[in-house]
Amino acid sequence: MKKRPLPRIIGNWKTFPATEKEAVTFIKKLEAKVRLISKSKDLYHLAVPDIFLKSLQQHAKQGSLGVQNISGTTLGQTTGQTTPSMLCSAGASFALLGHSEVRAQGESLETIAKKCELALLAKLPVVLCIGEQERDKHGHYLKTLEEELRIILEHVTKENFAYLTLAYEPVWAIGQAQPATVHECFEVVIALRRALASLVGIDHAKKVSILYGGSVDASNALTFIQEGGVDGLLVGRASCDVSTFTSLIKVTL
Ligand code: PGA
Repeated sequence: MKKRPLPRIIGNWKTFPATEKEAVTFIKKLEAKVRLISKSKDLYHLAVPDIFLKSLQQHAKQGSLGVQNISGTTLGQTTGQTTPSMLCSAGASFALLGHSEVRAQGESLETIAKKCELALLAKLPVVLCIGEQERDKHGHYLKTLEEELRIILEHVTKENFAYLTLAYEPVWAIGQAQPATVHECFEVVIALRRALASLVGIDHAKKVSILYGGSVDASNALTFIQEGGVDGLLVGRASCDVSTFTSLIKVTL
């Protein structure tokens, strides 16, 4: 498997935008703006609606595209599913899995685990979202997150950890006016790194990047990178406006 560079700034478009035409216009404008900031590749990554992948692909020169979920958890005769290999062939270079908004629709840890395993088998890198619903003063949420990680990654081979990214997204900080504090983020990132090391050993654990997500914007992005212990960011609302997303990318360069 050829190693892909791991995502750093990932926009999560959710149901944005309404049409393919708007999506293409967005990418063209974004490309024109980021070209003025830097010539590097991989300046941005966008998790877009699957149906727009193919038409956006040709325009995304300085970034890469991924999907927000995968529906196909079986490879046999199953109606209405899109499998990881189909998404790869349509141009996906990563898949977000386990986002809290998908879990809220009833997705179980076992289903997320199956999706992770299948995506990685199809050589589709995974960005696994994980985060507590709420905090308790005794820190039990740390144990819960560690246990979730163990269940989800149980069938992932050690070698495939190189194609895994974690996105720490405290559910209480998504879609809010304020993100978590960098200290709150740092505490969980350390716990996640420790949990990864105890699952697969330090050498494989070190290959996993960790991102923070939850009300990130251009004003707080750099602080998370510098003080939150993370390798990048997962950005919802602030990725749906070309100027805002460009400013965010720029401050983190
Ligand atoms: P937000 O969304 O940045 O709008 O809080 C983040 C996410 O849901 O991934």
